[in-house]
Amino acid sequence: MTQLGVGIIGCGNISTAYCTLAPMFKSLALRAVADINMDAARARAAAFGLRADTVEDLLKAPDIDVIVNLTIPEVHFAVTKRILEAGKHAYSEKPLVLTLAEGEELRELAAAKGLAIGSAPDTFLGGAHQQARAAIDAGDVGKIIGGTCHVMGHGMEAWHPNPDFFYQPGAGPILDIGPYYVTNLIQLLGPVRSVAALATATFATRTIGNGARLGETVPVDTPTNIHALLEFANGATVTLGASWDVWAHRHANMELYGETGSLFVPDPNFFGGAVEIGGQDKEITALPAWDHPFGVPNQEDRANYRCAGLADMAAAIAEGRAHRCSIDLAVHAVDVMTSILKAGEERRFVDLTTSCDRPAPLSPDEARALLAPV
Ligand SMILES: NC(=O)c1ccc[n+]([C@@H]2O[C@H](COP(=O)([O-])OP(=O)(O)OC[C@H]3O[C@@H](n4cnc5c(N)ncnc54)[C@H](O)[C@@H]3O)[C@@H](O)[C@H]2O)c1
Repeated sequence: MTQLGVGIIGCGNISTAYCTLAPMFKSLALRAVADINMDAARARAAAFGLRADTVEDLLKAPDIDVIVNLTIPEVHFAVTKRILEAGKHAYSEKPLVLTLAEGEELRELAAAKGLAIGSAPDTFLGGAHQQARAAIDAGDVGKIIGGTCHVMGHGMEAWHPNPDFFYQPGAGPILDIGPYYVTNLIQLLGPVRSVAALATATFATRTIGNGARLGETVPVDTPTNIHALLEFANGATVTLGASWDVWAHRHANMELYGETGSLFVPDPNFFGGAVEIGGQDKEITALPAWDHPFGVPNQEDRANYRCAGLADMAAAIAEGRAHRCSIDLAVHAVDVMTSILKAGEERRFVDLTTSCDRPAPLSPDEARALLAPV
C-alpha cells in the first residue's frame, strides 16, 4: 500500500497517543511534528525519533502529504484551513470546528482543491461499536425506536494540566465529549433531524488539580450540564445527558431500544468493551466476543486504536474511495452539537440544516487490512 507522509501540528497531551499508535497502521508514515511552542515540538520529536519543524516549514514540507491538527478547538478551523491552503490533506482532532459555517467553508475549500479532509472521533471504528452496528444492521433488536446516552462526571481539571479550553465556548461536555456519542449515534442510527435541550452551568470557576498550575482557578464560560433530546431522520428519539457537574451516577453510557429487544453499547469514547443485548425474556447477556482487531485491548485492559480514522483516510486516498471519518459526518455532528447548545440557549426545538450518510461499516477483515504487519 502507498504510504502517506504524515505531519502533526499541536504537540500537547493527545499527540503522544498519535505518535505512539501511528506506526501500527500501514498507510501512515509519521515524519514530523510542529507547534507554536517549539520546545513542545522538539520534546515530542525527540521522544519519537521525528523531525521538529516550525508550523510554516511543515506546511511546505515536500515529504508530508497529510497534516493532523492536534491544536486546541479554538484554532482548529484556522489551522485546518491553513493546511488545506498549503495543498495538504487535513485530518483534525474533534471537534472539527466550532460553527457550522466554518465546517461548510472547510468542506468547500477541500473540494475546490481536490484534497481529502477528515476528523476524529474514530472510536466508532472500534470493535465494540462495529459489533453494535452489525447487530443493528442484522435486525437483532428490530428497528431502533429510541435510546438514552449519559456521559457525566466532574470535568477535566483534576487530570489535565491546562484545562482552560474545556470550559470555554467550543468545548464543555457537548463539544468536547459529545462528538464521541453523537458520531456513534449517527453511524448506528443515521442522521439527526431536530434537537431540543436544557443547558446550564453550576460552577463559575474550576480549580486545577494537577501539574504546574495546581490550585489555580479557571473561569467557566460555557454550559457544563446539558440534557438534550435528539430526533433522528429514521424516527428514533434519544436522550443525551452530558455533564461535568455530576460527582456520581448510575446511568449506562448508551442504551438503544429496538422493536424486539435492547442493545447496550459501551462507552463511545473508547474502542472496545462488551456489547450486551436483551430480548423479550428481559435477560441481558453479552454478545459473543467478536474477532475484530480494533476491540482487542492493547493498552493494559483498554483497546486504543486512535489513528484508525486517519489510516482509513490515507488508505482511501490511495484506493480512490470515500473515507469513513468524513467531512460530511463531522459537519453534521458539529451541526447536531451546536444546535443542542442553541436549543438550550433559546429553550426550543432546533431543526438541523445538514445531513449525511452513515459511514460504511468497518468489518474485522477491513480493519485488519489497515494494520501494518507485526
Ligand atoms: N487530551 C486528550 O486526552 C484528548 C483526547 C481526545 C481528543 N483530544 C483533542 O485533541 C486536541 C488537543 O488536545 P490536547 O489535550 O492535546 O491539548 P493541549 O493543550 O495539551 O495541546 C495543544 C497544543 O497545540 C499547540 N497549539 C495551540 N495553538 C496552536 C497553533 N495555532 N498552531 C500550532 N500549535 C498550536 C499548543 O502549543 C499545545 O502544545 C483538542 O481538540 C482535544 O479536544 C484530546
